[in-house]
Amino acid sequence: NEKNSTHSHHRGSFSGRIGYVLAVAGSAVGLGNIWRFPYLAAKYGGGIFLLIYILLTASFGYVLIMSETALGRMTRKSPVGAFAHFGKKKVFKVGGWLNAVIPMLIVPYYSTIGGWVVKYLVEYFKGNVQKVSEDGYFGSFIADSWQAELWFIVFAVFVFAIILGGVQNGIERMSRIMMPVLVILAVVVTIYSVTRPGALEGVKYFLIPNVKNFSWMTVVAAMGQMFYSLSIAMGILYTYGSYVPKDMDIEESTTQVEIFDTGIAMLAGLMIIPAVFAFSGGNPETLQAGPSLMFITLPKVFASMGLGTVTGIVFFVLVLLAALTSAVSLMETSVSTIMDELHWGRKGSCALMAVVMIVLGTASSMGYGLLDFIRIFGMNFLDFFDFATNSVMMPLAALATCILVLKVVGINRITKEIEQSSPFRRKKLYKVFLKYFAPACLIIILLSSIANVLG
Ligand code: PHE
Repeated sequence: NEKNSTHSHHRGSFSGRIGYVLAVAGSAVGLGNIWRFPYLAAKYGGGIFLLIYILLTASFGYVLIMSETALGRMTRKSPVGAFAHFGKKKVFKVGGWLNAVIPMLIVPYYSTIGGWVVKYLVEYFKGNVQKVSEDGYFGSFIADSWQAELWFIVFAVFVFAIILGGVQNGIERMSRIMMPVLVILAVVVTIYSVTRPGALEGVKYFLIPNVKNFSWMTVVAAMGQMFYSLSIAMGILYTYGSYVPKDMDIEESTTQVEIFDTGIAMLAGLMIIPAVFAFSGGNPETLQAGPSLMFITLPKVFASMGLGTVTGIVFFVLVLLAALTSAVSLMETSVSTIMDELHWGRKGSCALMAVVMIVLGTASSMGYGLLDFIRIFGMNFLDFFDFATNSVMMPLAALATCILVLKVVGINRITKEIEQSSPFRRKKLYKVFLKYFAPACLIIILLSSIANVLG
């Protein structure tokens, strides 16, 4: 009986389902929902992207969250340990590390974007609501490499301060209060945004699938986004699962996390995409803006409304908080992997991550200015790290998890693990998806990612 094994005595656990759902939601809801989802949806076809995203989340995402959480709870270990738990061969090591290394590569560029958020917050505090909404403002900000670097470092210092200062619980508690405020504010801005003249076109573009806008990149992007937004395929859920009590209903909590996370992403989409049509005439160029979309479109919305300064401040405070809880969970997983596997102390592990942060984060921050001349497969650093992790490494990491479950652990042990707490209502679905759908999907994605880079 695992419950009484020595492992679980050493490990803390969540107080219950609510505590777990909130912790996972804190990790899941972040820049991925508010910054990344809207720009991908705008870029890769609107409604058709949304449809594919939702289908993938309900099928494939569901299977992966369940598997990772169950494996974490079964082994009481984070990914490297969890894979090693099932065998000593090299492949297990590779599978575990593949999962574990991804957060280390994400957190630096995540912090670059976090820095942009801090910069905008400061500008709103200074009352520059008009200035930041001008055409070209964002472009000249990120082209100024030392500015971008400065704000990246400010954000990174916040993250390390939280990790080293042990105030994580305080932050978590605060974000629990802020989450509902974020939802309310998003609803208010959404209503304002979709009622502007011309916005309706954008609402249609975002919500109604149009096959004409479909391309394979739509699927690749939607899948990468699903991993990213739900914190799948990067070791986080193994780690969180290892703290889950045996009597917690994994299935129900998974559903709740998915609904909440997707809900916030859709709100962000409705806040931003119709505004592109209302404020920039929906010109295709703005729809293709990519990472800069949120920073170009929302300031125009805020500048045009009454109370724009206050709205801007509140909005960016909330986004900053959501970004910090996610960044902290990325950093915490990275640090604990180093501590567990290299047997370094906490301070030393943080120092190693600080080096990784400075090198990769600086490259991302300066990629629009001083380092603009360096291109990897045509992408600057930020886009490249984003692409490499989301479209290549995460599918591989997810594939590793699928193979582990299918070939080594066996589906039955997973379903038994899940059934320890409650009947497994969608067991058949889980099996079918895991056996046939997931591996096929992953292989298609990997191939089209490669084709995309080479083509
Ligand atoms: N899911 C977070 C977001 O949407 C990002 C993240 C990924 C956080 C992985 C933790 C782990 O912003």
